[in-house]
Amino acid sequence: MTFAADDLMYRPGLMKGQRILITGGGTGLGKVMAEGCMMLGADVYICGRRGGILEETAQELMAAHPDGGKVTGIACDIRVPEAIEEMVETIWADGPLTGLVNNAAGNFISRTEDLSPRGFDAISNIVFRGSFFVTQACGKRWIKDGLSASVISILTTWVWNGGPFTVPSAMSKAGLNVMTQSLAVEWGPKGIRFNAIAPGPFPTEGMSARLNPGESAYGDMKGNPLGRVGEMRELANLAVYLLHPLSTYVNGQTIAIDGAAYNATGGNFARMTEWGDEQWAQATAAIRATNEKDRAKRTV
Ligand code: HXC
Ligand code: NAP
Repeated sequence: MTFAADDLMYRPGLMKGQRILITGGGTGLGKVMAEGCMMLGADVYICGRRGGILEETAQELMAAHPDGGKVTGIACDIRVPEAIEEMVETIWADGPLTGLVNNAAGNFISRTEDLSPRGFDAISNIVFRGSFFVTQACGKRWIKDGLSASVISILTTWVWNGGPFTVPSAMSKAGLNVMTQSLAVEWGPKGIRFNAIAPGPFPTEGMSARLNPGESAYGDMKGNPLGRVGEMRELANLAVYLLHPLSTYVNGQTIAIDGAAYNATGGNFARMTEWGDEQWAQATAAIRATNEKDRAKRTV
């Protein structure tokens, strides 16, 4: 399903002239933010490891919004700094970016005592390390060219209260939260600003299959003050706001979009302390099957 004109609160063409890279933009929340931006006229680059998915998404969005901007997929594994450099160099050859969304992530639930070093690295190398190197590759070029830009990182509310059973993700996202606060100050004077979005429950295939396979990923929504999960258009509207130059005075902030779930329940997976060995064995097997299936589609 794609957006209709009244899903966005902005005038058509608002994002014309904007050039935005969205990591992990081929699926889920990244795809939704890509659509919001391109629908309003921005040229959008999306990256990920599954080249076929990027191509499908680019074609789908441009077919749905023929008056929108161009969407270009670039297969890139952000765990590899050299691959990031190559991607950013390719983009800059067409012209500089005006915005970056650090959205790509890896995650799975696990008892922390069961994590191997490779399991920890599988997540932190994408979220913590990869997002930093993408930010730095763009930042160096913006600084050299004296250009302004807006950077958004997609975090979770766990950056404020911790993420039991998702510790490598919570630690990595907390690192990006500090990157947001630090670079807002260091690079703010250069016109490069940093904000972050901490989404609550927005069902996506990637998330549901890895955070609570076989059930609704967040359990029921009774604990959420609004009694529901987030709507994709709600997230897209917030991302467009933060990427547009008219929000420039907003800098160094992390904004939750979760219906106040964090305030009401903590918004994390604390309830999994009740799980026994059998439940963990089932969840782990299902997650590994999803990982396997997705890995088979990777082109880089
Ligand atoms: C314990 C696990 C495991 C599990 C994998 N591993 N799954 N350990 N429990 N369930 C271990 C493996 O055994 C292996 O270690 C190591 O992790 C690497 O596994 P691979 O499958 O080889 O990893 P890789 O191919 O690099 O894939 C990375 C990935 C995968 C992170 C594991 O899930 C991925 O690519 N995900 C991308 C998409 C994604 O995760 N989307 C969800 C984002 S949702 P050993 O030692 O055995 O070799 C999100 C929402 C948060 O972040 C907010 C909600 C509020
Ligand atoms: P998703 O669809 O699985 O998105 C993750 C994306 O990251 C995929 O497109 C994946 O593509 C890409 N990616 C992973 N590793 C990569 C790598 N090494 N290099 C390049 N791209 C990589 O899940 P989602 O739910 O939309 O999550 C998007 C973001 O929102 C994540 O940061 C997540 O933590 C955050 N978030 C989601 C929720 C939610 O409820 N959905 C809540 C809070 C925060 P490839 O596999 O093809 O590389």
